[in-house]
Amino acid sequence: MPDNEVDLYHSSYGNYELDVYRRVRLATYGEDLGQTSWVTNDESREIPLLLQLTPESSVLEIGCGSGRYALHVADAVGCRVLGMDVVAPAIDTANQLSRARNMGSRVSFQQGDVSRQLPFAEQAFEAVFANDVRRRVGRSQHAAHLRASGTFAAHQVAVRTSLR
Ligand SMILES: C[S@@+](CC[C@H](N)C(=O)[O-])C[C@H]1O[C@@H](n2cnc3c(N)ncnc32)[C@H](O)[C@@H]1O
Repeated sequence: MPDNEVDLYHSSYGNYELDVYRRVRLATYGEDLGQTSWVTNDESREIPLLLQLTPESSVLEIGCGSGRYALHVADAVGCRVLGMDVVAPAIDTANQLSRARNMGSRVSFQQGDVSRQLPFAEQAFEAVFANDVRRRVGRSQHAAHLRASGTFAAHQVAVRTSLR
């Protein structure tokens, strides 16, 4: 990590199970879905509907963070989800959560930079989504991995701060 970058994610994903982090998530979002994003609970509920997910769907989440939301979606819908994130502790935590819930056969996580070419077959997924991933991700970047009738959703926010 470059010297001038703030470590936003290693601590929260690496210490995901600590009670203090759980309480921060609950206080921030009202419901603990492992979030580190600006996505609201209403939006979280809307995403599987927007993507028209069914139990037969195979879904890619890019920038999955702790993986908890991917597990929530897979549990609610019955679909398969593959999550990718560039931060290693996110993937470690996500795979641990998946195994602990006996969901390893349907939900798995892989480390990778989604701004690069992804190691998936063409048309491997019925749906691709990204929740608040800093690097802009667009459907065109992932179109090759989506089936012809597939859906793509990206939730993005712009926050301008003035710290002077
Ligand atoms: C604001 S967090 C959102 C995490 C999760 N989607 C959520 O809703 O809680 C942004 C996530 O995107 C990941 N990310 C950013 N750029 C990425 C890239 N190029 N490839 C893969 N993951 C990336 C970060 O590591 C981080 O976990």
